[in-house]
Amino acid sequence: MTPDGIDPERIPVHVACVMDGNGRWAERRGLPRTDGHAAGEQALLDTVDGALELGTQWLTVYAFSTENWRRPADEVRYLMGFNESLLMRRRDELHAKGVRVRFIGRRDWRVPRRVLRRMDEAVELTRGNRRMTLTLAFNYGGRAEIIDAVRSMLAEGTSPDKITEKRLRKHLYAPDMPDPDVVVRTSGEYRISNFLLWELAYSELVFTDVLWPDFRREHLFEAVREFQHRDRRFGGVQARGTA
Ligand code: FPP
Repeated sequence: MTPDGIDPERIPVHVACVMDGNGRWAERRGLPRTDGHAAGEQALLDTVDGALELGTQWLTVYAFSTENWRRPADEVRYLMGFNESLLMRRRDELHAKGVRVRFIGRRDWRVPRRVLRRMDEAVELTRGNRRMTLTLAFNYGGRAEIIDAVRSMLAEGTSPDKITEKRLRKHLYAPDMPDPDVVVRTSGEYRISNFLLWELAYSELVFTDVLWPDFRREHLFEAVREFQHRDRRFGGVQARGTA
């Protein structure tokens, strides 16, 4: 059954989340920042369950940005290892739930080989699942993605007049991924922070003060309710009530 106040006919196809506030959550408790990331795992898993409950087909989360390398070395090391261990601990469970795991981002030399291996294993294991696609944006930057798409078009020998939005889209990290209908950012920050710059051109943005480690499916449902109250026009004109 669809949660109260949510129209089952207008469930967002793609929800994207900026999982922000882990550090502050930990600092408020006198804990190391990395404990905040560890606590974020439960939030992520509950959000996945909530998205499955809703019937959302695509869930994308920002796990590590191209800017996060600037963090203290031990935090970066922690996040790399955490990605690896999370995948090892949770891949069977995600697989059993029919979740296809994928990654977007740069596979550059800074990502340790063993982390890449675990990523590949999780992708391979869950490749055939179609209930929902969980995309982890890892070593991801929106500008980097656009640059990579342009490089890939040039490498193919595309001439300038053949560079169109449609063609560029085909060179994004996940060309088959629909644009997010709604992007949720936690922790009371009102920024996009280089997340899915191309894809979120027409996404509805929902902000909440909840810190990511406290985020649960009920907060996702609240974001979907807010989304369903928005009037999406995609640059056109539409009288209210005719959608
Ligand atoms: C932002 O909080 C959060 C991150 C940089 C990492 C998010 C990662 C997880 C929730 C766990 C899943 C992770 C992987 C690698 C699969 P912040 O540290 O910027 O918090 P702050 O703004 O309070 O400092």
